[in-house]
Amino acid sequence: MNGVSGRMGYRQHLLRSILAIREQGGVLRADGTRVQVEPILVGRSEQKLKELAAKHNIEHYTTNLDEALADDRWQIYADFLVTQARASAIKKAIAAGKAIYTEKPTAESFEEALELARLATEAGVKNGVVHDKLYLPGLQKLKRLIDSGFFGRILSVRGEFGYWVFEGDWQDAQRPSWNYRKEDGGGIIVDMFPHWNYVLENLFGRVESVYAKATTHIPTRVDEQGNEYAATADDAAYAVFELEGGIVAQLNSSWTVRVNRDELVEFQVDGTHGSAVVGLFGCKIQPRNGTPKPVWNPDLAETHNYDADWLEVPTNDVFENGFKTQWEQFILHVVDDAPHTFDFLAGASGVQLAEQGLKSSETGARIDLPVVQL
Ligand SMILES: NC(=O)c1ccc[n+]([C@@H]2O[C@H](COP(=O)([O-])OP(=O)(O)OC[C@H]3O[C@@H](n4cnc5c(N)ncnc54)[C@H](O)[C@@H]3O)[C@@H](O)[C@H]2O)c1
Repeated sequence: MNGVSGRMGYRQHLLRSILAIREQGGVLRADGTRVQVEPILVGRSEQKLKELAAKHNIEHYTTNLDEALADDRWQIYADFLVTQARASAIKKAIAAGKAIYTEKPTAESFEEALELARLATEAGVKNGVVHDKLYLPGLQKLKRLIDSGFFGRILSVRGEFGYWVFEGDWQDAQRPSWNYRKEDGGGIIVDMFPHWNYVLENLFGRVESVYAKATTHIPTRVDEQGNEYAATADDAAYAVFELEGGIVAQLNSSWTVRVNRDELVEFQVDGTHGSAVVGLFGCKIQPRNGTPKPVWNPDLAETHNYDADWLEVPTNDVFENGFKTQWEQFILHVVDDAPHTFDFLAGASGVQLAEQGLKSSETGARIDLPVVQL
């Protein structure tokens, strides 16, 4: 587990996934037996790794990635490094013949992301990329609605993602400062478009074109050491995606917006037979049979309570942490060849969307997206 001291590496991958899997006695296989996990922590600071290992009763840690990769005991290389450091580390893991599971984006450029997919395929190593948002309860409920035919013909998707990330002067920023420096791999398009790509593609259809307007609303921020720095990366992006089948998706991504929603991300899906509003957890619907008939009249104050027209979708299932669920699927893919379709090629498709989104913003043009192939 490389980069395990980071925000994602520690909380989602080590704590909520691998240690939770270890705690439950391993991953349940189809034949009823379990496969247990044994992590080795990899990082640059021996002291940090030592503390983490002691805190969580983990036997193995090292600052020497090459040595860990050369050791046959370790079957899966997992990468949670800052994006910039990822591709070179993954190439080493491919050369070492490890199965690989990684955070998104898989690389900084589409060319490099595609190269990783090619190299992994040529080497015959199993590979997977985090698609965590698909495993969120809200999106699982949305998938259920789509599969049940609730929407009729889906027309459009409108998404709001974001919250205020403090500038770091009078209150500490709640995200790492590299996120706001383009030269360090930062930017909201690079961060969020890989997510939007797999969310849209897996729920509604392939993303066929992108138009985006990216901007840096806050040009100066203060870093972890209290030093002012130039925020060179985009902190908000306003985008329109055309999807297979004529669906139009319009998604705002912003670290410079104050939340007036139920959740930090919300999607509204409108179809001929019904609409839904989903968040990370919640999901409410309005079927056509329950749709009011508003009449535009600016002379009268509104008396209708539109919020009350929506019906909450019950949870019905037990949804576990999405990172953990995907880890379990990937582990079963490695040990039992169980299906896991979210591979480096899918990851490259997400990087393509981010790259073309940035290009669209620079040129002002809408850009058609080719199908990503090896
Ligand atoms: N799936 C998601 O929802 C999600 C959310 C946030 C971030 N991410 C992705 O996860 C990755 C990590 O993001 P984070 O927010 O945890 O960042 P972070 O800064 O908290 O952690 C980064 C880790 O990389 C290590 N690192 C930094 N520079 C390095 C270098 N030059 N060489 C080797 N290691 C280095 C750090 O020590 C740390 O362990 C990013 O690629 C990001 O895009 C994914």
